[in-house]
Amino acid sequence: DKGTYPFYMLKEIDEQPAAMRRIVQTYQNDAGELTIDEDIVNAMLASDRIYIIGAGTSMHAGLVGSQLIEQLNGIPVEVHVASEFAYNMPILTEKPFFIFLSQSGETADSRQVLVQLNQLGYDALTITNVKGSTLSREAKYTLLLHVGPEIAVASTKAYTGQIAVMAILADAVRQAQGKAAPFDMGQELSLIANAMETMIDEKDHIHEIATDLFTDKRHAFYIGRGMDYYVSSEAALKLKEISYIQTEGFAGGELKHGTISLVEDGTPVIAFITQQNTAAHTRGNLEETRSRGAQTAVITTEALARETDQIVLPTVNELLTPLVSVVPAQLLAYYASLDRGLDVDKPRNLAKAVTVE
Ligand code: F6R
Repeated sequence: DKGTYPFYMLKEIDEQPAAMRRIVQTYQNDAGELTIDEDIVNAMLASDRIYIIGAGTSMHAGLVGSQLIEQLNGIPVEVHVASEFAYNMPILTEKPFFIFLSQSGETADSRQVLVQLNQLGYDALTITNVKGSTLSREAKYTLLLHVGPEIAVASTKAYTGQIAVMAILADAVRQAQGKAAPFDMGQELSLIANAMETMIDEKDHIHEIATDLFTDKRHAFYIGRGMDYYVSSEAALKLKEISYIQTEGFAGGELKHGTISLVEDGTPVIAFITQQNTAAHTRGNLEETRSRGAQTAVITTEALARETDQIVLPTVNELLTPLVSVVPAQLLAYYASLDRGLDVDKPRNLAKAVTVE
């Protein structure tokens, strides 16, 4: 039931802070420590390379997860689009371990890969929102998102839920590795829930920005580097799928190698600037588009903000900023679709779970 909300998508965006808190509570033991099933942690520890497989938004969550695992655990990670992996399987390492990300647990492209890997005798973990779903039943291990049912076709709380669960998993593996904690994961996820709330409280302001940026526009770009590039990909998918504005998420530095020729007078270009080591470069890349007529906007953190930046997030740990920076992008997409009078929850040509290959 969407209650007083006009669309499920807005309700599900709003539910994200509570979902973060629920995830932390669910994965806490009686002593208040975050824990993950020992067998899953051991399977990760025994692996020389993790392969993350998913489609669409779930694959985008996997990109963020790959950074979390590499940075906290030092295990190399590859992220693969399920429909590509199935027919163009990469050469696997000696001790691969597989993580399937799927909100529904029913995506045929992902299932196809899992069936193949099961036949080859490999173990896999499914991270899903749906208990008892096909991908959960067919994988050796399952971790649940606990974010509540997601009804809108455009995925929001499942994306942030998947990242949070991978963060808790990476933190548990780090502990088992005997590595010092760079920060307290439970505490940081709680701060993130608060930061998400701050963004959600700014929805009217974000609506104005969306109207200003996207009215009568046919093309748009999101840019960023590293983590911010991964969020750009997700932000672009969200905007394009529900507003029908053709949007690309681009690596900030790559734009000038061809794609910048698409920038015209008024083309919206939105930059994510949340990582200290790439902030100056992304600002430079955004400036290059502005000097070619782009209508620019910046999503940044308090720590890196400049006077003229449009959307400023409370500062959280840089490894976890996607959890917060994606929220204004979800809202921008929502309002772009709403302004156009579209059915936000049911974009044309799409189904919630894609059960054909
Ligand atoms: C985009 C979206 C899709 C799904 C994709 C995978 O908003 O919802 O890209 O993420 O179809 O679905 P699941 O996660 O159910 O496997």
